[in-house]
Amino acid sequence: MTNAPVAPILVTGATGRVGREVVDRLVAAGMPVRALTRQPDTAALPESVDVVAGDLSIPESLDAALEGAGSVFLVWTAAPATVKAVVERLASHAARVVFLSSPHQTPHPFFQQPNPMANLHADIERQIAAAGLASTIIRPGMFASGAQLWWGEMIRARGVVRWPYGAAETAPIDERDIAAVAARSLSDDAHAGGDYVLTGPESLSQADQVRVIGEVIGREIRFEELSPEEFRHETAASWPAPIVDMLLDAWRATMGHPAYVTCTVADVTGSPARTFRRWVTDHATAFMDGPAPTR
Ligand SMILES: NC(=O)c1ccc[n+]([C@@H]2O[C@H](COP(=O)([O-])OP(=O)(O)OC[C@H]3O[C@@H](n4cnc5c(N)ncnc54)[C@H](OP(=O)(O)O)[C@@H]3O)[C@@H](O)[C@H]2O)c1
Repeated sequence: MTNAPVAPILVTGATGRVGREVVDRLVAAGMPVRALTRQPDTAALPESVDVVAGDLSIPESLDAALEGAGSVFLVWTAAPATVKAVVERLASHAARVVFLSSPHQTPHPFFQQPNPMANLHADIERQIAAAGLASTIIRPGMFASGAQLWWGEMIRARGVVRWPYGAAETAPIDERDIAAVAARSLSDDAHAGGDYVLTGPESLSQADQVRVIGEVIGREIRFEELSPEEFRHETAASWPAPIVDMLLDAWRATMGHPAYVTCTVADVTGSPARTFRRWVTDHATAFMDGPAPTR
């Protein structure tokens, strides 16, 4: 008697921070993985992965990737226009979706400010439910990699972080922990219906996060507090204004509150969420002299 082949798991956002880690975990667990990217030639994914071209903004371009797929990891980084058409396509091919959303339903001030990203996530969740697609919703808070994105260059170049709301606390989550929960959810049907708010294990002010980076790389890093207006001014040329507004609103609202912390990573994976210090230690080169890391 031969076992029926296991349907491939389709990972969207497979070349991104979370998606790559999801792919690595599924491959390590021996699962057949199909990866979606707009640029297969430069995707640089593990050899055993079936890399398929597709674009979320062109729903019909997903058909080849969805053919015979079992569960789908959905990371939405495209414009909202094609959400309904894409979700309907997923529902007609796949048995289940694991969607990377955000904690927009969590009653903590940090998550309850006007937020276009949260609105989009809520809409995608509604479309998934309307399409009758079984789902697991994964809701990470602030990614630890934000530290690299926001402060890496300032620290490398000048050893100074000029930033607003230094006392605002968040619980940065390591992308590897998000991926571990996603991989578990994708490979085990018992997670259908799961709704998981994921955070790092500790509440840390932004100034303390900068201090941790300094301790790990052995360099004193000055934190220079900016007013919200100074921050708007300094980011005006390089950041979209709605993103700046979203962040300022969230940091202002959370002042005086510890960050929301869950133990869901441990509950789902059996291992506690990695600390921010651990994330910094494993990405220390992002803050040190030398060529900037690409991953
Ligand atoms: N940052 C946070 O603190 C935070 C918190 C909660 C939730 N989130 C959510 O996390 C998601 C971002 O995840 P990430 O950081 O892992 O992503 P990322 O590193 O920014 O990578 C983006 C991925 O999306 C793919 N992509 C972009 N446009 C696409 C399109 N039109 N069609 C198909 N694929 C497309 C890219 O693939 P190719 O270029 O290879 O096509 C790439 O793999 C967002 O939905 C965000 O809202 C973020």
